[in-house]
Amino acid sequence: MKPREILPGVAYVGAPDFDRRLFDALIPLPDGTSYNAYLVRGRDKTVLVDAVEPAKLGVLEDYLADVPRIDLVVSNHTEQDHSGGLPWLLQRYPGALVLASEPAKPMLADHLGLDPARIRAVADGERLDLGGKTLRFVYTPWVHWPETMSTYLEEDGVLFSCDFFGAHIAQTDLFVDGADCIMAEAKRYYAEIMMPFRKIVQKNLDKIKDLDIRMIAPSHGPIHRDPASIIAAYRDWSDDRPHNNVVIAWATMHGSTALMVERLIAGLVERGVTVHPFNMASADIGQLAMTLVDAATIVVAAPTVHVGPHPAVYNAVVLANALRPKARFASILGSYGWAGRLVELVKAAMPNLKVELLPPVVAKGLPKPADLAAVDALAEAIAAKHKEAGLF
Ligand code: FEO
Repeated sequence: MKPREILPGVAYVGAPDFDRRLFDALIPLPDGTSYNAYLVRGRDKTVLVDAVEPAKLGVLEDYLADVPRIDLVVSNHTEQDHSGGLPWLLQRYPGALVLASEPAKPMLADHLGLDPARIRAVADGERLDLGGKTLRFVYTPWVHWPETMSTYLEEDGVLFSCDFFGAHIAQTDLFVDGADCIMAEAKRYYAEIMMPFRKIVQKNLDKIKDLDIRMIAPSHGPIHRDPASIIAAYRDWSDDRPHNNVVIAWATMHGSTALMVERLIAGLVERGVTVHPFNMASADIGQLAMTLVDAATIVVAAPTVHVGPHPAVYNAVVLANALRPKARFASILGSYGWAGRLVELVKAAMPNLKVELLPPVVAKGLPKPADLAAVDALAEAIAAKHKEAGLF
């Protein structure tokens, strides 16, 4: 296949992966993903921006079959789904050098065994003239590894952003077609990958705000020809202010916890609060992560297994703790058989969440009228906190 031109002198040479269903043995990929790479040809130099996942190297090889010379390969990010093709590229093009950020240089040697002599570190803001096309390297750290950078093609206003602004979706069309459908995919991706670095995302958005960006070409998912939309979405997602939403991660064994969850949902809805409940026995953790992006309150509702929280719900707590959402409040519901350390263990599992803990409600066996009244009081407390915070 010939490189697919997206602009004069700029072509797509990446690979959709329609069949992949899991990333990092953790993240569900309901729509597959893609590993994008781009060929930029100036009068004097030809550059490849990002390589691909090793499993899809054959696609890149095919695209490059009639490309006799590549002078430089920009590695915006060391993770193997973008750098896995580098060892092959350096063999295929013995004169080529890899360009990467300063912190990436040792990482490329560590992760891929690249010869350091074939890697040149570029400085933040450094420009490279290819002959009629100029690349500018912009360090955008922690989106989502410490070494990540973006590459800006000045004449065409293209930002090659790698994971930043990406989405796990496989499709044959190269461009975003309809912002609405890509935003859900992009939000899911942001939630899973970028959310723990929300504050640094804000800084990186500030850093690129004065660039004349006319196109964002990420290394997962389609290319944005309306960059303002995805940049505005990132502003909202990374902003400190949550929405008037509650996420409930719950499970039930004999129905007692379910009764409390149903009561809480009803109480919150009555008070004008949006609720996203996830039964962790079958929930898609990507969907859970996505709703955590905006939630003001997280409620964990679990029966005890022996004396600890049900493991499916406990996993959700561990995930939320790792993703560090912007939520301001949390609470715990549950039911136990004979004894329980539910509250103590859930609290201990979420040290990264900077939340005010609203009074937990834990019932012995079936929730009694007093327990259900306490659930109603919790709904009232959550709604009041949301109001006080100006969320509605
Ligand atoms: Fe798509 Fe962080 O790799």
